[in-house]
Amino acid sequence: MTTTGTTVAGVFEELYGHAPEGVWAAPGRVNLIGEHTDYNDGFVLPIAIPQAVRAYARRRDDGVLRLASTRVPGAAVELDVAGLAPGGVAGWAAYPAAVVWTLRRAARHEVGGADVLLDSDVPGGAGLSSSAALECAVATAFNDMYELGLGAEELALLAQSAENEFVGVPCGIMDQMASMACRAGAALHLDTRDLSARHVPLDLAGAGLTLLVLDTRVQHDLADGAYAALRAGCERAAALLGLPALRDLATADLPAALTRLPADLVPLVRHVVTENDRVRQAVAELQRHGPAALGPILTAGHASLRDDYLTSCPETDLAAATAVAAGALGARMTGGGFGGSVIALVATERAEAVAGAVVDAFAAAGYAEPHVYRAVPSAGARREA
Ligand code: GLA
Repeated sequence: MTTTGTTVAGVFEELYGHAPEGVWAAPGRVNLIGEHTDYNDGFVLPIAIPQAVRAYARRRDDGVLRLASTRVPGAAVELDVAGLAPGGVAGWAAYPAAVVWTLRRAARHEVGGADVLLDSDVPGGAGLSSSAALECAVATAFNDMYELGLGAEELALLAQSAENEFVGVPCGIMDQMASMACRAGAALHLDTRDLSARHVPLDLAGAGLTLLVLDTRVQHDLADGAYAALRAGCERAAALLGLPALRDLATADLPAALTRLPADLVPLVRHVVTENDRVRQAVAELQRHGPAALGPILTAGHASLRDDYLTSCPETDLAAATAVAAGALGARMTGGGFGGSVIALVATERAEAVAGAVVDAFAAAGYAEPHVYRAVPSAGARREA
């Protein structure tokens, strides 16, 4: 299916024989700092990006769920909502189906079918949470179409359980909360234990700064086990230390705690505890000295992921190091890792030069040309039409 020369609403009509009743958008995100802290009940500081997944949808009252995507050629996938079950839907359609399944469970089956067409400009596999954006767009659409009255936090939790239980990816809550709850012009300071959140103003343009997103185009599927293994390692460490979660380990107690752990868990715990500190420090610096002060914290976060948590890779290391060498105030990989994107905070007049230096370094190393975006703190999920 193609959208060339026609609107997405037009494609919807062609496909389903009637117009959508609305369009709901939910953005991707970049995380400024606080990586691999969310499944440790810790702190994160993401922003929503301008790129979003849009769900064009119309409610149906016959229990049929039809799903299509402008990115996937071919006819719509047709499902019976009452028959949805984990493991029962393959491929991309599992994500929207998962959300309908979890909403039905939460809303006592008041949720029925719909015709849905998804359209997205969030780069997939780039560590920018295209899956969470898709889930949140669908959740927001069904919340409105079926007048469920669920709030942003509830929808984020349902989207996360859709991914955990139906798709089988043991992700934390950061991406869904970022997509649901972020605001334009602000970063979301989120405590992932109780979901208390503060919108911290982040005026990059006003400070003469640009946040570059350098997509290394190295793709890593979170479902493939490495993420789950890291999460399990953190949970094992917390259990050995007698703590509910690693968030409960105070920085002052870290050196003593590390002596009580097997060698393979030491770097994991060191990363999580110091990363939670970096989030606190980032919020304090942002409020006291403005966004430029984030630079060194980003770079320190990357070093911790590279040397302790081992979620970086040669491409993300090269992008981050090259950006800093070319004048970025700081740079780090963002998201789950093993590829994906690096963010670099740069003075706007240096943005072209820094991006160019990374492109050149990738060419010299024989890597695919990175895709370069500029992230502006953007709004969370909303109805658009
Ligand atoms: C992925 C997960 C998030 C979070 C990050 C790492 O994006 O979906 O829940 O764990 O990795 O910070």
